[in-house]
Order: sequence, then C-alpha cells, then structure tokens
Amino acid sequence: MISKIPVAILGSTGAVGQRLVSLLFDHPWFEPVLLCASERSAGRSYAEAADWFLPETLPAKAAAMTVAGCTPDLRVPLVFSALDADAAAKAEAEWARAGILVVSNTRCYRMDATVPLVIPEVNGDHLALLRNRVWPGRGGIVTNPNCSTIGLVLALKPLFDAFGIQAVQAVTMQAASGAGYPGVPAIDLIDNIVPYIGGEEDKLETEPLKILGRYQAGASGEPGSIQPASLPISASCYRVPVLDGHSLAVSLRLGRKAKPEDIIAAWQEFRGQTAGLDLPSAPQRPLLYLSAPNRPQPRLDRLTGGGMTVCIGRLRPCPVLDWKFAVLSHNTIRGAAGGTILLAELCVRQGYLK
Ligand SMILES: NC(=O)c1ccc[n+]([C@@H]2O[C@H](COP(=O)([O-])OP(=O)(O)OC[C@H]3O[C@@H](n4cnc5c(N)ncnc54)[C@H](OP(=O)(O)O)[C@@H]3O)[C@@H](O)[C@H]2O)c1
Repeated sequence: MISKIPVAILGSTGAVGQRLVSLLFDHPWFEPVLLCASERSAGRSYAEAADWFLPETLPAKAAAMTVAGCTPDLRVPLVFSALDADAAAKAEAEWARAGILVVSNTRCYRMDATVPLVIPEVNGDHLALLRNRVWPGRGGIVTNPNCSTIGLVLALKPLFDAFGIQAVQAVTMQAASGAGYPGVPAIDLIDNIVPYIGGEEDKLETEPLKILGRYQAGASGEPGSIQPASLPISASCYRVPVLDGHSLAVSLRLGRKAKPEDIIAAWQEFRGQTAGLDLPSAPQRPLLYLSAPNRPQPRLDRLTGGGMTVCIGRLRPCPVLDWKFAVLSHNTIRGAAGGTILLAELCVRQGYLK
C-alpha cells in the first residue's frame, strides 16, 4: 500500500469504538481521520468525550482530535460503525447512500437479504452480495455478526464442512463489556448472573444460518442471494461478571460419526477463506484447541492471537446429542472491532472499495 486509506469511526467513544481507536491508529492500511459520536460528544476533544477505559494507552493523535457528529463526510471511502443500534439504522444508510462503504458492528442490517453478514474466514465469498449494490455510487453496508455468534460459528464451520451438523445447543456466558460502556450497573452484576440479554438468543439462533449458507449467483444479471443453512439451534444467553471474553457451552449432533481426534484435527487445521491473503488482522490460526481440562478461561485465553483466535476446549461425548465442548472468544476484539477491521481488509483485498 502506498498511502493509507482515510477512515471514519462512528460510535468512536463507546466500548467497541474505543477498541477500534486502539487498533486503527496503528494500522498499516487505514488512517482514522474522523472520530464520530452523538451530539453529546460532538465538538469536544476525543480525550474529553471518551471515558477511555482500555488498559492500552489512548493514542495521542486520537486524544487531540475533535469529535464530529455522524453526518456523512465524503473525505472517507470507508467507515467503521460501532453505533448504538437505535442510531445506527439511519446513520449507516445515510453513509452508504453517500457512496461510502460501511463496515458495521450493529445488528440493524445483518439479516437484510441484500447485505453480507460475514466472518472473513468462514464466508468471505458472501461479499459477492455487494455486487447487488442497492446503494448509490460504490457505497454499501457489510456487517459483522453478533459477538457470541462469531465464536460459535467459527467453532462450527470446520465440523459443518467435514461431518455436517444436524442440531446445536449453545449456552453463553457473556462478559460485561458486551453491554457497552458503562453497561450493566455493577450492583446488578457483582455476585450475580443475569439469565437474560434482550434479543441475543434470537441472533444466535438465526445469524449462523445465514453465515453457514451458500452464495448463489443470480441467473443472467439477476442479483445473487444467500441460501441459508438449515439446522435447529437452541441458545440460552447469560450475562456474567467477566470483563471481556464470551464463553459458550456447546452441544451438537453431527451429520455422520466422527472420532474425537478427527474433530480436534478439523479445528486445528482450519485456516479458512483468509488463508494466503496476507491480511494484517488475520490471526495465524482462527481456532486453537486447548487440551488442558480447565481451559479455555477468559482471563487466561481471551487475548490468544491478539484477541482474534477463538479458543476451544473440553471436547467430550454428549449423552443427549453427540458431542459437547467449550468455546471462548474476545467479544470486543474478535467479536467486534478486530472482526470488522479484518472484514474491511478483506473488502479492500477483494476490490470492493472505490
Ligand atoms: N460491546 C460489544 O462487545 C459488542 C460486540 C459486538 C457488537 N456490538 C454492537 O456495537 C455497537 C456499539 O456497542 P458498544 O458496546 O460500543 O456501545 P456503547 O459503549 O454504548 O457505545 C455507543 C456509541 O454510540 C454513540 N451513540 C449513541 N447514541 C447515538 C446517537 N443518537 N447518535 C450518534 N451516536 C450515538 C455513543 O456516543 P456518545 O458517547 O456520544 O453517547 C457511543 O459512541 C452496538 O450496536 C452493539 O450492539 C457490541
């Protein structure tokens, strides 16, 4: 790359926005030139507006920038959205209509039939939906799945391809930072587990079907579409007093018999659709199986591969379905900011940026 691509960050002051700031100011391809947030923050310096809570130092360049509102700005061809979902539907459409490519963390357009919902290693080929281009210019919206969906689907994908999957049951234990900043009041979460996260179970039961689905090119110039996978998924979602890192307890029934060593080999050998593309944010291994009986754990394992590797452990027979295992993924890195940066890199590599 000769010069960096100027980018904007919508929702730059929030939990995911701060991760984007932390990861993008040092990025080899992208250069944040606009930090956007609500009218409450607009006009203030980023250092004042963002209640910086990451252990990483706030980049000095970001600290000194003045926060802007969310009006589209044609100086950037690419925008990362980490907006509150209530504000995102309108704002993301406005940026896309202005001819800008929006890479979004929000739920608003994930299940829209014209919008790619992509985990780069799993279904980067679904970006072909961008050729449908329902937005003017070369604008568009590309979405990153829900933060628990990402860990679940990355763990499922190698098994789906190798053995088929007939049914999945997943119980999540989701970190506090998944609720944004300041998020769940401490008094609700300390010494406690909350067995409800609004809308989350539905996302976990539907998004994987689109992601594991197949892209079908349209006949004679018609737009392409996704044929969703067909398998029942039952999800139960809990908020737990962990800072970062969503854990999942997963049980599944496979399409054909498999030995445990074959399942583990499928995970360990998985490199996915980003293999060989030399994308700066792609981890060496998207999945890592840990053989110790008490892993993965959020505190010990969430930063594996810079937070981009999903850790799996405790594969064992399930007396109800076939197999059960544990999954851990970092919700604001792999599940949000890092995931969208990798997705944007893939868009650039595949030529979807003007
Ligand atoms: N946290 C996670 O682990 C995670 C993972 C995956 C996806 N997501 C999704 O990512 C998005 C951001 O999540 P978050 O956890 O970072 O939330 P958050 O901490 O609450 O941050 C929300 C951001 O949106 C801005 N905002 C709120 N209302 C706005 C408005 N009316 N107009 C313009 N900007 C507005 C806020 O700006 P001000 O500071 O100015 O209010 C802030 O920058 C959400 O859609 C969430 O569902 C989150």
